[in-house]
Amino acid sequence: MLIRKPPDIPASEITPLNTYLRRRDLLARGAALAALAAVSSRSTRAALLEAKKSPFSTNETQTRQADATSYNNFYEFGTDKADPAANAGSLKIAPWSVKIDGLVAKPATYTLEDILKPVALEERIYRLRCVEGWSMVIPWIGFPLAELLARVEPLGSAKYVAFETLVRPDEMPGQRGLFQPLPWPYREGLRLDEAMHPLTILATGMYGATLPNQNGAPLRLVVPWKYGFKSIKSIVRISLVEKQPPTTWQALQDEEYGFYSNVNPEVDHPRWSQATERRIGEGSGLFAKRRPTLMFNGYGDQVAQLYAGLDLRANF
Ligand code: MTE
Repeated sequence: MLIRKPPDIPASEITPLNTYLRRRDLLARGAALAALAAVSSRSTRAALLEAKKSPFSTNETQTRQADATSYNNFYEFGTDKADPAANAGSLKIAPWSVKIDGLVAKPATYTLEDILKPVALEERIYRLRCVEGWSMVIPWIGFPLAELLARVEPLGSAKYVAFETLVRPDEMPGQRGLFQPLPWPYREGLRLDEAMHPLTILATGMYGATLPNQNGAPLRLVVPWKYGFKSIKSIVRISLVEKQPPTTWQALQDEEYGFYSNVNPEVDHPRWSQATERRIGEGSGLFAKRRPTLMFNGYGDQVAQLYAGLDLRANF
């Protein structure tokens, strides 16, 4: 990232944990109906986004909701951690559609309602580890990306999946003016097998409610074993392609941000170590506790086999 040392969150911004954990599980069909209703009415959103709990979840202490929604990277709204929460209210998230094209048998432009209609939403409590050296534990609500990709029927020639965020300078202050921190649209990519992995989800909510705009409403990617910048927000296009697609951070600083971006404590960022991390909420400033960073962000049992035979120092 361009910001070298992120500021710590003052204690005054920290609020007590919600009581969101007392949620009942819904049947898959119920969750699908909930998903449909969630996009049509604000009041039903909060009530119905009570997704099935996933066995893929970590049981680590969750980051406070107030922290996860006020300490963000979403450069379309500014480069300070507080900018997205302050500025993302201007983003219009309805109506929303996602174009899925490229090497698929059934290219389509789906509305958000179309996307959510057949899926059973799940709550996935995942770690998100940023390349800047901080991490959070967030209860996402979403569904496997593989389910959406299956609907468009990828062709045998498709090897990678490319994602794009929208470009809307009128609503995104980071996309207008003299200083444009990134080339737009924000782009990310995965290998097809990474995209199809059951841990890879499209999230539409967090903490039992729909996603706040600053966290990537209405639909974002979450890939828990990769640095947070892979988890592209507010997606409008998904393309299946044959060749490794360009990504925003690679285009900007190729030697610092590789395509794979797997959380790897053994491969330092050229300007800092990746061996440890600060869990947001665990002290600040001089008292910030640092914990060792785990290979693949702790998801090695599930994903290490994807990289068997690949030199992870060369393919960082
Ligand atoms: N997606 C878009 N479109 N624009 C961005 O600037 N920042 C990335 C990622 N997705 C970013 C983005 C980075 S650097 C991180 S660490 C995560 O979003 C942060 O997600 P969070 O704010 O929900 O914690």
